[in-house]
Amino acid sequence: MSLTALLQNCARSFPDGTRALHPTTLEFAAGSVTALLGPSGCGKTTTLRLLAGLAMPDAGGRVLFDGTDVTGLPVEQRGIGMVFQNYALFPNRDVAGNIGYGLEVRGVPKAERTARVAEMLRLTRLEGLGHRRVDQLSGGQRQRVALARALAPAPRLLLLDEPFGALDARLREALRAELAALLATLRITTIFVTHDQAEAMALGDQVVVMQSGRVLQQGSPRAVYQQPANRFVGQFVGTLNHLGGDRFCRPEALRPDPAGTLGGVVLVSFFEGGHTRLHLRPEVPGAEGEWVLNLGGTVPAAGSRMTLALDSAAVLHLPA
Ligand SMILES: Nc1ncnc2c1ncn2[C@@H]1O[C@H](COP(=O)(O)OP(=O)(O)OP(=O)(O)O)[C@@H](O)[C@H]1O
Ligand SMILES: [Mg+2]
Repeated sequence: MSLTALLQNCARSFPDGTRALHPTTLEFAAGSVTALLGPSGCGKTTTLRLLAGLAMPDAGGRVLFDGTDVTGLPVEQRGIGMVFQNYALFPNRDVAGNIGYGLEVRGVPKAERTARVAEMLRLTRLEGLGHRRVDQLSGGQRQRVALARALAPAPRLLLLDEPFGALDARLREALRAELAALLATLRITTIFVTHDQAEAMALGDQVVVMQSGRVLQQGSPRAVYQQPANRFVGQFVGTLNHLGGDRFCRPEALRPDPAGTLGGVVLVSFFEGGHTRLHLRPEVPGAEGEWVLNLGGTVPAAGSRMTLALDSAAVLHLPA
């Protein structure tokens, strides 16, 4: 069964004065998938380490699982599955030996262990590779072994720290889809860290955007994209076009329209398959930077002037 995890007023400081996390309260509902998103050093791994029991919060902070205080409970008693940044498989064990490790440690009988490992091999699509040495696997297969190893003891909470960090874009995307399907089946409360906003949006029921040890916004991917709390969040989860003052819009709020009231000059365009991404220099007083627009069909050449209409309902008023 999955659990509801709560970080209550958790901060994390170091003797050198660094504050990896300012006092933070965050809830992770039973069975939900949360993406922790933010720039390098913002406190994502720290948040996971507090949940795992690998780090203690500063005085006053508590970690609760289903309402029970587990702040003093060591990592091995928390019933957590983890795949951490730079995870390491055991090189002297084959695939099945890696996946079964956590079960062995817990003294699960051999027959039960074998059955569970077989189930994990099937779930992570590694059938037939149980006796393969881990140094004879592809990057994506290794990643799946790490995931299977974390899942085998049936954790109630799954923590993934950039699980696809080391993989190329295509493989990432394939594994992302697999993980989404797997999580939908297992319904384990999952918290995963990513730098990649597309990954966060695709996998998370909830997205938590962090900066400098603080949570800036927490919400559904749709809510965070459509109503970002400020400019940083807005830019982190997508592209913002500046309209002047505190007014911004997403690329899809602008469309070519000869009767439109806004204009811009095409700077450059990038063909991306289904659409072309166009960068414009806005010709609107007060608008800073470039605008980005996604167009299907024919694309005006660089240097040409475009007249645009704005969906005024989609204007975002964002504080700095
Ligand atoms: N032992 C430590 N002593 C001092 N500062 C530390 C220590 N461990 C982490 N930090 C600092 O705490 C902050 C948060 O680190 P954390 O590892 O949580 O970041 P992150 O969001 O996971 O970054 P990344 O995306 O690069 O993995 C960073 O500024 C980091 O330098
Ligand atoms: Mg990290």
